[in-house]
Amino acid sequence: MGAEIDLMRLYPKPKNRMTERPEITDEDREISRRFDFDYFDGDRRHGYGGFGYHPRFWTDTVDLFTTHYGLTNDSSILDVGCGKGFMLKDFSLRLPGATLAGVDISRYAIDHADPDVADLVQVADASDLPFPADSFDLVISINTVHNLDRAGCVRAFAEIQRVSRGSAFVMVDGWKNTEEQELLQRWVLTARTMLSSDDWLVLMAEAGYEGDYAFWNPLS
Ligand SMILES: C[S@@+](CC[C@H](N)C(=O)[O-])C[C@H]1O[C@@H](n2cnc3c(N)ncnc32)[C@H](O)[C@@H]1O
Repeated sequence: MGAEIDLMRLYPKPKNRMTERPEITDEDREISRRFDFDYFDGDRRHGYGGFGYHPRFWTDTVDLFTTHYGLTNDSSILDVGCGKGFMLKDFSLRLPGATLAGVDISRYAIDHADPDVADLVQVADASDLPFPADSFDLVISINTVHNLDRAGCVRAFAEIQRVSRGSAFVMVDGWKNTEEQELLQRWVLTARTMLSSDDWLVLMAEAGYEGDYAFWNPLS
């Protein structure tokens, strides 16, 4: 198993996350889980409330990944759950020679991907990645895998492990105490698998996942 490491620490955080999202209903969750217009560019209660590119989001984080994993222009990098490809766009600016790819379950996100990376992204499920074994030096998946049910999460971690020939980093919603658990359960819109960090480690081991990981919750 890899290490728990907060490689998302430089990603900008809203000041007051818990008051920013209105009370969420089951109907809101159902709409959000379609991952179409409503989730990305519709009302805030169904997701991002407008999902556009801004360099302040990923530039520092991409620098951190590049340094941490020793990435170069010869590296190949896959983003699982790439959305509209904004992290990949900043990788393409930081490492113009790198081989980049992204997958996302959302036809809407892929059809509205940033034009600079539109050729690099495709629709695919994290639990069935359309790449041969050992294809990438680094596979990244941020806040995506928990959207599958538990069996799907096991498959997704196994797939990430399969297509990586070097490193992997996965961030999922997870808690370490009851305060984090309660906040996460109130906040969560789309996740189908919500576990404590210890239970995620059990699941990762079951999948044979050997990469790095981090846990997100509204307090992190
Ligand atoms: C919270 S967003 C994160 C997007 C991006 N990784 C980021 O950090 O900005 C979750 C993403 O996971 C995608 N997603 C949900 N279920 C998925 C699945 N089974 N396979 C691949 N992508 C999925 C959604 O369409 C959405 O783009």
